[in-house]
Amino acid sequence: MSELVRFSVAMDSELLGEFDKFVATRGTAQNRSEAVRDLVREALVESTVESPDSEIVGTVTMVFDHHASDLSEKLDHLQHHYFQQIVSTLHVHLDAHNCLEVLVLRGKSAEVRTISDALLGTKGVKHGQLVVTTTGKHL
Ligand code: NI
Repeated sequence: MSELVRFSVAMDSELLGEFDKFVATRGTAQNRSEAVRDLVREALVESTVESPDSEIVGTVTMVFDHHASDLSEKLDHLQHHYFQQIVSTLHVHLDAHNCLEVLVLRGKSAEVRTISDALLGTKGVKHGQLVVTTTGKHL
């Protein structure tokens, strides 16, 4: 971690009062400085993941019926196609029909979204979600 720098912030007293209430809800370990740092990191991560060329990581969680037509084959084909961005995959057989898959992706934000859209848009995928985050650099 680099050097700690102090700076002052001018803020409307009512807004500061609301901020202090917010900090209080986050537990005794939190103080204003920690809360501000968390919010700054959150804003930076949000800005990074929204920028198409930024290097990010993401997880795709999806549930599908492996019996549904040639779904397993299609998903497998996609995963081989994007082997450079798919870092790891977890497969759980939920019951006799349903599978849960969690994939960890790493790449440019636009690539991660393209891969996620291709996977989740495959006919027969019952539910899925992409969660994106930072690689942790520059934070
Ligand atoms: Ni399975």
